[in-house]
Amino acid sequence: MELKIIESDKKKSKPQGALGFGKYFTDHMFVMEYENGSWGNARIQPYGPFTLDPSASVFHYAQAVFEGTKAYRNEKGEIRLFRPRDNLLRMNDSCDRVCIPSFDVDFVLDALVKLVLLDKDWIPTQSGTALYIRPTAISAEPALGVHAANKYIFFIILSPVGAYYAHGLEPVGLYVEKEYVRASKGGTGHHKVAGNYAASLKAGEKAKSLGYDQVMWLDAKEHKYVEEVGSMNIFFVLDGKAVTPALGGSILPGITRRSVIELLRSKNIPVEERLVDIGEVMRGVQNGSCTEIFGTGTAAVISPVGKLCYEGKDYVVGGGKMGAIASQVYEELTGIQAGKLADPFGWVKKIFG
Ligand code: PLP
Ligand code: COI
Repeated sequence: MELKIIESDKKKSKPQGALGFGKYFTDHMFVMEYENGSWGNARIQPYGPFTLDPSASVFHYAQAVFEGTKAYRNEKGEIRLFRPRDNLLRMNDSCDRVCIPSFDVDFVLDALVKLVLLDKDWIPTQSGTALYIRPTAISAEPALGVHAANKYIFFIILSPVGAYYAHGLEPVGLYVEKEYVRASKGGTGHHKVAGNYAASLKAGEKAKSLGYDQVMWLDAKEHKYVEEVGSMNIFFVLDGKAVTPALGGSILPGITRRSVIELLRSKNIPVEERLVDIGEVMRGVQNGSCTEIFGTGTAAVISPVGKLCYEGKDYVVGGGKMGAIASQVYEELTGIQAGKLADPFGWVKKIFG
């Protein structure tokens, strides 16, 4: 397939000051369409709105998936992507789960690199910032019947971002949710399907209204085992071991999660992927054997947890501060991403400089 590049003749002004998360978008986007049985009409074009029929299936039945990855630029001007192929492979898995036709990962990766390079002046360089890359696929057939659509749009947009949480690396507060559930085995929880996020909003808003940053989800069957957090996977340091819920078909297989596991094991810090009973966590937080809790994600990076709300009561975790293991993982991971540290794992793809 050929990739057309239509450059914008009107460049937007770049944001000044704090970037926040996902508020600004660059000058260009990648788009391709699926029609008559194949993906085609691939182009990089000026960023702008789509025209979609109100009957387009995505509006009614949420046949949509997305991904999140980042480009990092350091002071030397070098630009790196972090495991971008893994995001596109996961996106194809998500597509399969909601009957969106698969795409050619190598073609899209090449287009993604060209898009990032075209808009490279938008990549921030300050520590803790990056260019967030959001590939998305939606169904676009104008039809109300509940069936897999025959038309789709795939697009990639770019957004210069700072920290996902307004308070940056300050520890977050999590609300352990015992009423609502995020996902059950056999559902779509282990895929990056748009509807998962709609279904999580009610609990997320409840947590925010009570003063917490996000929800910590428990399993759908027994409301007993920790699954993950709104937009990140979760790690506990229990008796000196890093413990994280095993991927059992309802948790997103985070690329940061996998990287953190590999990083910890390379430092001989033991990691256990297993069922994590919320009772064990709460006992550990109270008797001091749970010294740290931290979340991992592309947007969230490494996010220390300083407070848990469980059954209406607040518990301080790790003295309310970022712990030693979270700090070490943060420094190593962001160092590799920015090219400040060597990358023995082969995770980064240097695309400039
Ligand atoms: N869990 C959920 C629900 C997420 O939305 C994300 C973000 O992508 C993650 C976990 C972390 O995944 P990753 O590390 O691949 O960004
Ligand atoms: C990410 O970390 O890339 C996410 O997708 C999380 C969130 C912004 C939905």
